[in-house]
Amino acid sequence: MNSQGLSLEEKIRRLKKERNAVILVHNYQPGEIQDIADFSGDSLELSQKAARTSAEVIVFCGVHFMAETAAILCPEMTVLLPDMQAGCPMADMITAEHLRQRKKELPGATVVCYVNTTAKVKAESDICCTSANAVRVVESLDSEEVLFIPDQYLGHYVATQTDKKITCWPGYCATHTRIQPQDIIRLKQQHPQAKVVVHPECRPEVIALADEVLSTSGMCRYARRDDVREMIVGTEIGIIHRLNKENPGKQFIPASEQANCPTMKLITLEKVVRSLEEMAPQVTVPEEVRLRAKAAVDRMLAVV
Ligand code: 13P
Ligand code: SF4
Repeated sequence: MNSQGLSLEEKIRRLKKERNAVILVHNYQPGEIQDIADFSGDSLELSQKAARTSAEVIVFCGVHFMAETAAILCPEMTVLLPDMQAGCPMADMITAEHLRQRKKELPGATVVCYVNTTAKVKAESDICCTSANAVRVVESLDSEEVLFIPDQYLGHYVATQTDKKITCWPGYCATHTRIQPQDIIRLKQQHPQAKVVVHPECRPEVIALADEVLSTSGMCRYARRDDVREMIVGTEIGIIHRLNKENPGKQFIPASEQANCPTMKLITLEKVVRSLEEMAPQVTVPEEVRLRAKAAVDRMLAVV
């Protein structure tokens, strides 16, 4: 409770109405943030939701590239990111300038950029993808040669699912690469009936041990199946909150407690309240960059 006798959650509900705001929350967010969501999802679902909302304000509880994607798709809306420091370190492993250089070395390649990139990098790319549609996006291309940026592990996984020639940028997610094959092997010995589900940002040696390779919302859908009672979860540990909430009686075991994305955890209820009160910090994209980045995102949305 604060001085006005309202809890933070009540304040957020009140402010949301006043501002005509919608709260979009990524599956890795802290549990109390997931609990105030109007919509929770993976990167693909959140960008689709942003593209369709009739609200005037989006409070994006996730990391910067996700809020930026909403700003790319909805220029007329105010997009708030409650903490501007909430970035994705992998997105910062490539710049537009580096990409322009690499494209000169691979003139025949179509650039497929993971949504975990800045707007400037999207603007230099041919088509965007997320973990939920990367294989479909690559398969949809006329070109046989692809430059996949910036996640080498997602790129490597896609390469195992297609005949196209894929050159990967050497980026990676430090959170997912903390999950080691030994973690899965040990947990599988302890829980022999458990299904092993991992995110495609994991190392290939981890992916090789999985029953399913899925986006975060793909994992949430898979967990609802009747034949899943126990699940070893190879992704960021924030997702365990949603899995437990939606599936009482089932057991969800994090593949590694080390798989914690520190920037995802920068969003707090206090910061959500402040962002709605102050209508800041806002994420904006210069129009010239936005239009080029939007072309890459729209091409992806036409595939899914
Ligand atoms: P999803 O799109 O599967 O939710 O993944 C986003 C992400 O940042 C994974 O680390
Ligand atoms: Fe970026 Fe990895 Fe965090 Fe996802 S989990 S936001 S890829 S650092």
